[in-house]
Amino acid sequence: MSSISGLGEDEVSSFFESSPPLKNKEGILEKLNGFIEHNSSGGRRIVCVTSGGTTVPLEQRCVRYIDNFSSGNRGAASTENFVKAGYAVVFLYRSGTCQPYCRSLPDDPFLDCFQFPDKTNIQVHASHVEAVKMAVMDQQAAVAESRLLKLPFTTIYEYLQMLRLIATALKDVGPCSMFYLAAAVSDFYVPWNTMTEHKIESGSGPLDIRLAQVPKMLSILRTTWAPKAFCISFKLETDSKILIEKATKALGKYKVHAVVANELSTRKEEVVVVSSSGNVVVRRDSDKPESIVEDNLIRLIVDRHSTYIKESHT
Ligand code: PMT
Repeated sequence: MSSISGLGEDEVSSFFESSPPLKNKEGILEKLNGFIEHNSSGGRRIVCVTSGGTTVPLEQRCVRYIDNFSSGNRGAASTENFVKAGYAVVFLYRSGTCQPYCRSLPDDPFLDCFQFPDKTNIQVHASHVEAVKMAVMDQQAAVAESRLLKLPFTTIYEYLQMLRLIATALKDVGPCSMFYLAAAVSDFYVPWNTMTEHKIESGSGPLDIRLAQVPKMLSILRTTWAPKAFCISFKLETDSKILIEKATKALGKYKVHAVVANELSTRKEEVVVVSSSGNVVVRRDSDKPESIVEDNLIRLIVDRHSTYIKESHT
């Protein structure tokens, strides 16, 4: 078996060959190419932020699926900060997860934002006016200036096919492009061609399912799809004792430029950026109630990206 940096080439090809075709691939490509052309011709840096968890369907006409935990908060907050830093963002997100500029809106129940003074008028409740105004204005500005392109996915099949499309489309942007891979990606899946078409019967006792391993796409992203892009991956653990060791291993194995290590319960307070120049703990400014860890994290990542671009030109 031939390999791409230790990665089974056959495994990767067979994953894509057996995936159900991406719906509206042509439409996605058209939007993507227009967005990249517009921003790269203006000399703007472009980052692909992935966000939310991928699902693994258990049936082709899916009723049941396995999910990966991620609220999408990290991706949404990071996207806002990248736009603020002057980047154009391709936001590849799980449908239904947290969206940029909407983090301050109540989601439960969202309709509490509104009131009807009479039958023909709808108004935003005074307590939510500021949050709704900022969400609408900032989101509309980012989209109107072509600084934000949102592309939704649900399944692992959609996510990986879209990531490949984006990476290949960004190839010519070279060092000015970045991948910031905050999505929680399934490690195991049911291959499409071995999956039952209809809803699994529940009357015949316990269910045995054999899951195949999803090929790690980080290696192929780095070596083949977008080798010149700046690449940040994430490492999530629930046991803080093994977090840094695992992140350091991933840094060496996948040759990404940095790994953002986070522990599930403290992920909103601090992360550790692991890279060949050492480990940096990044915290939320706890004396400022509005502060989020992504404010300081994106500042650091943007700085590192600037150095990378400079070094690539020398
Ligand atoms: O969304 P929030 O609730 O705000 O939470 C944010 C977060 C905790 C989800 C986020 O900060 C985070 O850590 N995301 C990555 C979680 C994860 O899936 O880690 P992992 O150890 O499974 O994967 C590590 C890296 O390998 C990831 O960058 C992933 O993109 C990549 N991967 C994973 C599986 C796979 N088959 N191929 C991959 O390339």
